[in-house]
Amino acid sequence: MDIRKEYLEFFKNKGHEVISSMPLVPDDPTLMFTNAGMVQFKDIFTGAVPRPKNPRATSCQLCVRAGGKHNDLENVGYTARHHTLFEMLGNFSFGDYFKEDAIAYAWEFITVNLALPIEKLWVTVHDSDDEAFEIWSKHIDPSRIMRFGDKDNFWSMGDTGACGPCSEIFYDQGAENFNSPEDKMGGDGDRFLEIWNLVFMQYERSADGTLTPLPKPSIDTGMGLERVIAIKEGVFNNFDSSNFQPIIKKIEELSGKKVTSETIGSYRVIADHLRANAFMLSQGILFGNEGRPYVNRRIMRRAVRHGYLLGFREPFMAKLYDTLCDIMGSHYKELIEQKKYVKEQLTLEEERFFKTIESGMALFNEELEKTKELFSGEIAFKLYDEKGFPLDLTQDMLRDKNIQVDVEKFDELMNEQKTKAKAAWKGSGDAAKEGDFKALIEKYGINEFVGYNHTTYDSKIVALLDESFNEVEKLSKGEKGWVMLDKTPFYATSGGQEGDVGALEDDEHIAIVKTTQKFHGVNLSKVSVEKSTLTKDEKVSAVVVNRWEIAKHHSATHLLQSALKMVLGDTVSQAGSLNDANRLRFDFTYPKAMTNEEIEEVEDLVNTMIARGIEGKTEELPIEEAKEKGAIAMFGEKYGDVVRVVSFEDASVEFCGGTHVRNTHDIGSFYITKESGVSAGVRRIEAVCGLSAIKYTKDIISKMNEVQTEVKNSDVLLGIKKLKDQIKELKKELELAQNSVAAPINEELIGDTKIVVDIVKNGDIKKIVDDYKNGNEKVAIMLIQPKGEKVMLVAGSKNTAIKAGDWIKNIAPIVGGGGGGRPDFAQAGGKDISKIDEAKEAALKFVKENL
Ligand code: ALA
Repeated sequence: MDIRKEYLEFFKNKGHEVISSMPLVPDDPTLMFTNAGMVQFKDIFTGAVPRPKNPRATSCQLCVRAGGKHNDLENVGYTARHHTLFEMLGNFSFGDYFKEDAIAYAWEFITVNLALPIEKLWVTVHDSDDEAFEIWSKHIDPSRIMRFGDKDNFWSMGDTGACGPCSEIFYDQGAENFNSPEDKMGGDGDRFLEIWNLVFMQYERSADGTLTPLPKPSIDTGMGLERVIAIKEGVFNNFDSSNFQPIIKKIEELSGKKVTSETIGSYRVIADHLRANAFMLSQGILFGNEGRPYVNRRIMRRAVRHGYLLGFREPFMAKLYDTLCDIMGSHYKELIEQKKYVKEQLTLEEERFFKTIESGMALFNEELEKTKELFSGEIAFKLYDEKGFPLDLTQDMLRDKNIQVDVEKFDELMNEQKTKAKAAWKGSGDAAKEGDFKALIEKYGINEFVGYNHTTYDSKIVALLDESFNEVEKLSKGEKGWVMLDKTPFYATSGGQEGDVGALEDDEHIAIVKTTQKFHGVNLSKVSVEKSTLTKDEKVSAVVVNRWEIAKHHSATHLLQSALKMVLGDTVSQAGSLNDANRLRFDFTYPKAMTNEEIEEVEDLVNTMIARGIEGKTEELPIEEAKEKGAIAMFGEKYGDVVRVVSFEDASVEFCGGTHVRNTHDIGSFYITKESGVSAGVRRIEAVCGLSAIKYTKDIISKMNEVQTEVKNSDVLLGIKKLKDQIKELKKELELAQNSVAAPINEELIGDTKIVVDIVKNGDIKKIVDDYKNGNEKVAIMLIQPKGEKVMLVAGSKNTAIKAGDWIKNIAPIVGGGGGGRPDFAQAGGKDISKIDEAKEAALKFVKENL
């Protein structure tokens, strides 16, 4: 049975809309990862966005619980049911059905569709929830309904947001299989397995902990797919199910080692972590030193270390990837689409870690031998800093030895180094402020953005805030603060597009808008008041400047993304972008630097799209329809009634909330100014268009004019060539000048033999020696030349009794050197320049004595 399909079909038949899994990176500053099926609906639950037309939804959501409030990382591999990444089946009611139906649906699915035996099922309710108890009593014997407190039966997504009491369904795996004292309902044992959680969403929790009843009580449920598959297959451990076994078998094959009771944990960790790493990478989360990429890295390094224990000494994760695709690829197309890229990234990261793992393990073992109770914080830090062992990896390695790391010392060293690497996820940062912004929405409603159609608008000031976001009645001349307009033409920074600037002005007022940002849904413009006073409830004319230049860069970014896919292939995907009035920056996944030809091709393609004058269109479409149109989805959009789709006919279709040109003609022209690497596997293109493109070309022209003046030629290439020739000539002349020694060289005649011994500062002394030999019948010559701190000696002899090799062997030691050579030619080097005069004297003496 395909349980995923069965579940979605079941709820579809009960009037639910089937919604796809949202990205692992939520558009939510309080969450690190999507950690439950309800994340994409959270604003619907709280009433912050309107309820969709269909108030029932169902999904199979990929969730990561590693980092953040729900963190299971350290349990993976050691329990039967924890995963870093798992699939959560869920059904949701947005103010439609409540406890009665939620329980009835769950019961029907479990007992009819899954056909789980009733006598093996147990349920729990919150101890205050008599209503749920009553409803359950209609389905199951009350003796198998248990009541628990907040710890077990109250669910919330994070520290703030929708939450409520919950009711869980358990499956009894049998006393014959599990019989520890903890194998009881509410205990920590594995016998009673929680398979489904029904949350009765009734409250919204604010940052200070207060619970406010929700406008409409709702339903959020979550059933772990991996657990249910295991139960249906009659295995007691998720890793023994068909969902994981093929990967474990593949690890056995690659390592050449069969699973044993000692090593089983390592196989499970690798199988689990492979899934998390693969999905994170395929969704654009890379490996890095902070935030989500650091979680990705920690998971990966944990897997590699377990691989190391199994004997792997080189990358192996990518070799497991095809097996994962066999299991999950048909439902999650991104795994297949991103195959090449993900494998490359896995291998790169593994290679990085394999470089240091060996010495890291040695350092760890050495310290472990010395450790009695507490593992040294210094060594844990050294492991982290020099060997790339995340702290939790070291902790994991100590786990079965029951030894703790001196985390205090570790943290102290980390702070000392002021490294950002461990920058822990701090959630929304300023939680108190979140409440303030929510209060603004409660008081004044959400302020509408009217800037898609207007760049000037007669707006009303509904609220004024000082620079610390405290509400004020007015902002006087010279003051700075934030303005909330009832309807605003100013676009707030998002989706890589910079916020609008401009002014609020009329006959009386002038306030400059420096930037516009969104704070928890409230669009605020930062102003500096230049004339008169801005007062609450006043009307002003809001004027956006520079909008078109931003729009040009944003639209060009869309065209650039299409062109990159055409030239480099479909695996290219966006990893970040920035569009402002002066430039665009686009980061994308690609393993190597682009060639000059590729860059030119991309630039030409974009310019061709501009020249074609393609009409731009923006539409609001249901999300599924938008995907069918082939819209490139960015990460972070979540389920809502409709999404905004920006298209330029066949050239580009993307989900986008930004502002765009009406026709590609408007962009003018497009130049790539730089292509560079951002991190392993991510490239960056910087480009300009519109007025910036004109400025860019004008700058080049004006530089060119300067160059013309400098090289004194209107044809700069010719000018440069002439200069180069001139340099060549001059070099030759210089050489000649150096060789024609300025000072005369000491020479004397003994009989008919010319004796030349001297110190020669400039010139090629080898050549001088040769010249003497060519120009004389009988000659013995030794020249000594200082070379910085060192000394060079060259000797020659023609038709004399002096053997150049012996001569130099005799003299070179005086300047701290050695050397030798043939009787007619020899050379040597020395290190002691202070002795060259002595060497000269000795050379003269030698020649006189031996001639
Ligand atoms: N949101 C609930 C959970 O994650 C269903 O358990």
